[in-house]
Amino acid sequence: MADLSTQYLGLTLNNPLVASSSPLTGSVDSALRLQEAGIAALVMPSLFEEKILQEHALLDRFLDEQSLGHGEAQSFRPLPQGFRSTEEQYADQLHALKQALEIPVIASLNGITTGGWLECAQQLVAAGADALELNAWHIPHNPEDSAAVVEQRYIDITRAVAAQVQVPVTVKLGTQFSAPLHLVRALGAAGARGVSLFNRFYQPEIDLDTLDIRPRLELSSPAEARLRIRWAALLHGHSDCQIAVTGGFHGTTETVQALLAGADVVQLCSVLLQQGPEAARTVLQALSLWLETHDYASVNQLRGSLSARHAPSTGDYSRGNYIDVLDRYTPPDSVRF
Ligand SMILES: Cc1cc2nc3c(=O)[nH]c(=O)nc-3n(C[C@H](O)[C@H](O)[C@H](O)COP(=O)(O)O)c2cc1C
Repeated sequence: MADLSTQYLGLTLNNPLVASSSPLTGSVDSALRLQEAGIAALVMPSLFEEKILQEHALLDRFLDEQSLGHGEAQSFRPLPQGFRSTEEQYADQLHALKQALEIPVIASLNGITTGGWLECAQQLVAAGADALELNAWHIPHNPEDSAAVVEQRYIDITRAVAAQVQVPVTVKLGTQFSAPLHLVRALGAAGARGVSLFNRFYQPEIDLDTLDIRPRLELSSPAEARLRIRWAALLHGHSDCQIAVTGGFHGTTETVQALLAGADVVQLCSVLLQQGPEAARTVLQALSLWLETHDYASVNQLRGSLSARHAPSTGDYSRGNYIDVLDRYTPPDSVRF
């Protein structure tokens, strides 16, 4: 049987399948089902900067109002007994997962500023996080901000998180950067040990009846995996950061393609939400079978063997492929031009 074991963020994983951040990775019950189905590590749902800051602001106001009241107010217990802050609740949830699971648990911080909220990273490590994933999704809506300014924001927050903790830090990135490979190298220099390619963006939708602007969440389709596979292939061998891919990985085909391109791990989310945690088992079994039928002894042997450096032609992941694909297009018979 082929050896599926994989190194990721200093952790030895049984195989390259990781459950990415989602509601499934937050509860002990579903996390146990993921582990049972063969998932090798999980990333918890994110702890959001906005939620922490909002709670801090509320508490400040609450305590402030008490101190403006009667003198005796000082002796009142200012917070309800048993109060747990957002960070503490997250750490409790993490602790419960660690107690129940054998697989590594990666905590997820989600925010865009380098403020004091990042100190909670230490709490998460104390609660048992094996690594931290930082999702610093930022929409560059300010026309004064250059690409360099936007990238610096990612570098600064990565450095700030990495400085807080001893465990490996990985950064979940979006697709929209001018020079993604250069940025990943800079993130590595700032302390990141990995990157996760790529965040899926949920675009707001304008409701034509009410003229409301509403959030809209659609799960992914396997076609989205190709963008991640291309960038994993282009990045492989150009940075010390390990590569996770996320977005559109539903089955064995995309999984094997990502590993061939150079991904260290493949993160699953939509397929698990659609089909249940057990979908991971099907992917793993088919991955094993694929390796055996194609005479690969291990995932390591396969990894990166079709990255940009090893691709048959230098243009395969860049303009060559682009020109080729346009030239090959044939319209359906019903459409003539
Ligand atoms: C319901 C839902 C909740 C999610 N929550 C988070 C989150 O808290 N933090 C995060 O970084 N990504 C979150 N994601 C993104 C996923 O981790 C994943 O990166 C994305 O869905 C792409 O993978 P997929 O195509 O397999 O769904 C969430 C996705 C879904 C569908």
